[in-house]
Amino acid sequence: MLRDGFLWGGAVAAHQVEGAFDEGGRGLSVADVMTAGSATEPRRITDGVLTGERYPNHKGIDFYHRYEEDLDLFAEMGFTCLRTSISWSRIFPEGDEAEPCEEGLAFYDRLFDAMLARGIEPVVTLSHFEMPLGLVRRYGGWTDRRLIDLFLRFAETCFARYAPKVRWWMTFNEINNQFNTANPIFAWTNSGVVLSEHDDPERTMYQVAHYQFVASALAVAAAHRVDPGLKVGCMVAADFTYPYSCNPSDVLMAQDACHSTYFFTDVMCRGAYPHYARRRFEREGWELDVTGDDLAALAAGTVDYIGFSYYMSNTVRFDHVGDISESTAHSDEHMVDNPYLPQSDWGWTIDPQGLRYALRCFDERYGLPQFVVENGIGLFEELDRDAVEAGGWAVEDDERIEFLAGHIREMEQAVDVDGVDLVGYTPWGCIDLVSFTTGEYAKRYGFVYVDTNDDGSGTGDRFKKKSFDWFKRVIATNGADLGDR
Ligand code: BG6
Repeated sequence: MLRDGFLWGGAVAAHQVEGAFDEGGRGLSVADVMTAGSATEPRRITDGVLTGERYPNHKGIDFYHRYEEDLDLFAEMGFTCLRTSISWSRIFPEGDEAEPCEEGLAFYDRLFDAMLARGIEPVVTLSHFEMPLGLVRRYGGWTDRRLIDLFLRFAETCFARYAPKVRWWMTFNEINNQFNTANPIFAWTNSGVVLSEHDDPERTMYQVAHYQFVASALAVAAAHRVDPGLKVGCMVAADFTYPYSCNPSDVLMAQDACHSTYFFTDVMCRGAYPHYARRRFEREGWELDVTGDDLAALAAGTVDYIGFSYYMSNTVRFDHVGDISESTAHSDEHMVDNPYLPQSDWGWTIDPQGLRYALRCFDERYGLPQFVVENGIGLFEELDRDAVEAGGWAVEDDERIEFLAGHIREMEQAVDVDGVDLVGYTPWGCIDLVSFTTGEYAKRYGFVYVDTNDDGSGTGDRFKKKSFDWFKRVIATNGADLGDR
């Protein structure tokens, strides 16, 4: 049984839903210079906003203007929480102003008030793949130590303003995504850095991650100074890696591959660098900029809980060498298809048991509360206008229902059988939005269909899918009725 007060909701991020990129005094963010892409054509990062290019995040789903209507739908489903993020460049448009932008702050006051009025608790990520573009232009993003203080100013401003309304926080979304140095958009969105432009991409990745670890730890301590009851978590992508076989070489390789997650959680949950990382730095001769004060900050600012996304698992085989996939966060040339698991249209493995595995791994390693803050499946879907006119669902998304039910069932096993301390579950993209990796609208995750298409057509109107009613029942029964069997 999931605990009483288990947080059921959904997850979105400012840059993928809000739109209104140039309203309310907002400055440009790194997401505003990423073009649209597709499953076959990678998104590009342009030098500023260029005429003739298409930037889907500028429009999102217009949540900035339509959030009341969307919150009504979430409340109808019975959401008790909603995970979203604060757009840093709405609060500090260039990133380094001395004073925050009041218009930006007021927007989130209105948004959080509207959630609370509907019984929906805000769960807020400070930096969800977004930072002011000004910080990239003037500081080189997170390669510059001064970003620590600038982030802290942003975090402290948010804690002071919203603490009475927002109890659940996370610092950096999927901070471990930048471990993939092959795809430029991963580190760009995490840190405002194109790693391939640096002499040693991996060393640079560890340096920017270090500054973020310190900033995150200082933010945790700052939140607790404002109110010891605030909960601040890390947020990682938990796509763990399995060995292809019981060959010990596969097993060791998979163990190493899991460091793409553990390196980040080890530092943020335990407050110190793990031995395997320090040995690696020594072996490579990397002398990172790490001070004694930094290490003290890490130790003093460990997180209250582990927030994580779970979409898929990976598999490695030691004697396979192939192309590095750009589509997943934690790419490795030894990655192979798992013969036991199907894949989505975007090549992501479908592995509900992997969620239980992730929950057990974190529990056994850290014993901290956990929060599944993203999970879901992207599908191609078409609006069934006739069905809507007849009072039916916009999309019969049985595949999504089966996917989510399977994952919730495994999550419940992790709680009931394994004793994992689980706080809540917020499926990703509870309303259709702009995909992060491909910049498409066509990759849909929602319980709510949004009539916006990649070719620019669509009314932007919202429609319920079949999963809307299904998830409503799941929440009403606190996960007892998964209704898929
Ligand atoms: C996670 C991110 O990587 O996965 C989200 O936190 C993202 O921002 C989600 O949208 C799904 O990825 P995609 O590429 O399908 O949108």
